[in-house]
Amino acid sequence: MSDNKILQPTTIIIFGSTGDLAKRKLFPAFYNLYISGRMPKGFNILALGRADNSDEYFKNYIKENLEQFSRKKISSEDWAGFQAHITYFQHQLDEENSYKDLYEKLEKFDKVYGKRGNRLFYLSIGPNFVSTISNHIKNASLASDPEKDRIIIEKPFGHDKESAIELNNLLAETFEEEQIYRIDHYLGKETVQNILAFRFGNSIFEPLWDCKHIESVQITVAEEVGVETRGSFYEETGALRDMIQNHLLQILCMVAMEPPASLESGEIRDRKVDVLKSIRRISSDKVDHYAVRGQYGKGTVNGAKAKGYRQEEGIAPDSNTETFVAVKFYLDNDRWQDVPFYVRTGKKMKEKHSYITIQFKPLPTSTFSETSQQLSANRLIINIQPLMDIRLQFMAKQPGLSLVLKPVEMIFDNFACQEDTPEAYETLLLDALMGDLTLFMRSDQVEEAWDVVKTIQDTWEGRKDSSFPDYEAGSWGPEESFALVERQGHSWV
Ligand code: BG6
Repeated sequence: MSDNKILQPTTIIIFGSTGDLAKRKLFPAFYNLYISGRMPKGFNILALGRADNSDEYFKNYIKENLEQFSRKKISSEDWAGFQAHITYFQHQLDEENSYKDLYEKLEKFDKVYGKRGNRLFYLSIGPNFVSTISNHIKNASLASDPEKDRIIIEKPFGHDKESAIELNNLLAETFEEEQIYRIDHYLGKETVQNILAFRFGNSIFEPLWDCKHIESVQITVAEEVGVETRGSFYEETGALRDMIQNHLLQILCMVAMEPPASLESGEIRDRKVDVLKSIRRISSDKVDHYAVRGQYGKGTVNGAKAKGYRQEEGIAPDSNTETFVAVKFYLDNDRWQDVPFYVRTGKKMKEKHSYITIQFKPLPTSTFSETSQQLSANRLIINIQPLMDIRLQFMAKQPGLSLVLKPVEMIFDNFACQEDTPEAYETLLLDALMGDLTLFMRSDQVEEAWDVVKTIQDTWEGRKDSSFPDYEAGSWGPEESFALVERQGHSWV
């Protein structure tokens, strides 16, 4: 959504600046924005951490990480310019005095800007600390200007509907809704943003985008990675909370939403909430019919031996946490009546591949029926990553003397058109600096999304799954996930 807008001097305050997200995503994103000339003229990154690190030590650490994770190569000249904007600041999250010191530090930056700068608080910390930090920010008057101060909060936003409501209420004591940026990095991905352009910028697809023409929709986010070093976090989270409640439901909203009247952020977010509201809630006694969970055991991923989930660091040997989820959703509205939306996600799957499949209905009658040729119904595949393309599959005549049809594919390759594709975090951080909320989640979106998965969550939490582990690392997930779609005569693409 980002465009050219003059940005006001800004201080970015990162809570959790020595964590994984900061090193892999945030600093690389700020660096890449900086070298593309997209950062404000005056800006400071105040990196907060518990440890007594020197500025020099911290900057070296960031430089090493940039060498590994930056999208563009780092040059000594650019680094020299960028590092001058970073300050490490020792800080204790739960100590009032630390926030008083922070207040003074922020004032010093403002003096150099010659005016009260904007403040962007980035909470790159576990969800348990959000309320503590938000309270301290309020008590220390750190975010006293609703026009200039913003807070970015990482997912998971709460751990269920009730806690999300609580958190929203708590944040509302310090921030207006327009100041709160709840991040879901999938919305910053180029290919996910392109869904909006593809659907509403063309006249040929929208008339076909409904239950009259579409038979089913599939959304797959398959990962090769396991839980890596995040075992203790993941044990408390699982795939339903980590991926379905946010990333997959947000993609579903992009596919299913009604055309927004404008690109105004409130309008787009309203249309997405409409989708979430229309998703039929699954009653507790039907959870097994509509949802499947799984957990990976040992296996082989990409030719390398892989541990099972229960053998990973920080995981209980009898863990009940799911690393795979597949769900069949229905939307109760005119456009999508009776069209199944299958979503699935899993860790340690056969390959990393995220994609959306729009399966069109077969022809009701066929000119070619006499020739007993099998016609494949049309299919549109939107590859999100690592492929970034859109493929339309249709039937065409095979060149030759007889009239034989074969399925062919027409491909639009996003990558080939634009090699210099920004990372999701670059897009989202720039939007936050500019004050554009479109790609961030509003409180009601988050609460609705929790509501959609509530019965699944409650049912699974209250029941031990004795079949775990039930899929091999390096496979496409448990058998039941195939049965979920086959029952209806469909199959995963
Ligand atoms: C994060 C999840 O939100 O998204 C991770 O917490 C997951 O578990 C990651 O691996 C996937 O993101 P991406 O951009 O690599 O597909």
